[in-house]
Amino acid sequence: MTASPLPDPAPEALAHSARLQELLRAQIDEAGGAISFARFMELALYAPGLGYYSAGASKFGAEGDFITAPELGPVFAACVAEAIAPVLQQIGPHARLLELGGGTGAFAEVALKRLLELDALPDRYCILEPSAQLRERQRERLQQRLVPPVFDLVEWLDRPFDDDWDGVVFANEVIDALPISRFAIEGGDAASDGQQPGEVLEEHVAVEDGRLVRVLRPADTFLANAVRFIEKRLERPLPDGYRSEVLPQLPYWIQAVAGGLQRGAMLFVDYGYPRQEFYLPGRDDGTLRAYYRHHVHDDPLVWPGLQDITASVDFTALAEAGVAAGFDFAGYCSQASFLMGNGMAHVLSRIEKIKDEAERQRRSNEVKRLTLPSEMGERFQVMGFQKDVEFGIAFLAGDLSHRL
Ligand SMILES: C[S@@+](CC[C@H](N)C(=O)[O-])C[C@H]1O[C@@H](n2cnc3c(N)ncnc32)[C@H](O)[C@@H]1O
Repeated sequence: MTASPLPDPAPEALAHSARLQELLRAQIDEAGGAISFARFMELALYAPGLGYYSAGASKFGAEGDFITAPELGPVFAACVAEAIAPVLQQIGPHARLLELGGGTGAFAEVALKRLLELDALPDRYCILEPSAQLRERQRERLQQRLVPPVFDLVEWLDRPFDDDWDGVVFANEVIDALPISRFAIEGGDAASDGQQPGEVLEEHVAVEDGRLVRVLRPADTFLANAVRFIEKRLERPLPDGYRSEVLPQLPYWIQAVAGGLQRGAMLFVDYGYPRQEFYLPGRDDGTLRAYYRHHVHDDPLVWPGLQDITASVDFTALAEAGVAAGFDFAGYCSQASFLMGNGMAHVLSRIEKIKDEAERQRRSNEVKRLTLPSEMGERFQVMGFQKDVEFGIAFLAGDLSHRL
């Protein structure tokens, strides 16, 4: 990933972004001059037909803006399948697998092939995908690459299950794409013995001199209370001028996707930190990032619709949300430890046997990217939850839960 300068978009891409900016300006006008940053992010990523994930821009892989673990090759999904197979087998033949945010379908393809080999196919493999364009991409890929009886297990959902069900929820790099609220602290006196907290303000997006800009407005009670909760758990007020982000809706989101799950597990993979590290005093502008053609930068307002916008996950908040939704916490570790503990040895022995030199090299490079601390190995972490099932050995290696 490189820092600026950003490559110029093609004229048709700029025209696309201009249409989304028109919509943003109309919404800003309608709202009396500013919309919350969370609303901006929601529109920039998901406005029907215009948002980054809803429209046709290529996002994944070498030609796109970023690369995810399942896009690198088959290793990641094969190891995740290894971890969830025992859970599906404990539940039995009626188990469902719900994948949130299926990307290009790369994860589903490999996971289903590996689950078939492990004799652990679910009864239904459901993909909850808000982007119509990505759904089409997933459908095409899976139809071409899966044998018909396995393809027939796959279906697409518009919303989470509304009945009671048993099975597994899986999401890779989805929580980082949920629209976050940005906040700023103004005033207060963290240095004094009294530890007087400052006022909580919320970042909004407005138009000034014809350009989109970020401005501060007083936070509503929902956001202000979410920030006060963070300070309470940190046991210190956040200092004057501190800016960061929070996902106050995370507990409701988890409840919405897995509320009907009676027996089963949830597995989330993403980049992030435990709360104490997320809100370190030095991390005073949060973790918000924009990705444009493999350039990472910190201006989310550039070319709306053409770049991805993400923020890291507060894994302590995720642990609290999972438990609040009625699950037992199953484990938390780095992606490297998780993959090592779930079939990586088997994958490596298969790689050694590959005769084609170039293919063997590609697979070894993939393993390095997934596991090296300087690549995705430590930055990405895995958190699991279980209800009336056991992940078994899935979280035995490299437990990080003491850091939560
Ligand atoms: C960064 S991509 C990751 C895709 C895929 N999981 C991968 O690893 O390649 C984020 C995905 O989450 C989806 N997404 C965003 N909000 C979602 C939500 N509320 N529920 C389910 N999926 C969502 C996006 O459409 C997109 O497919």
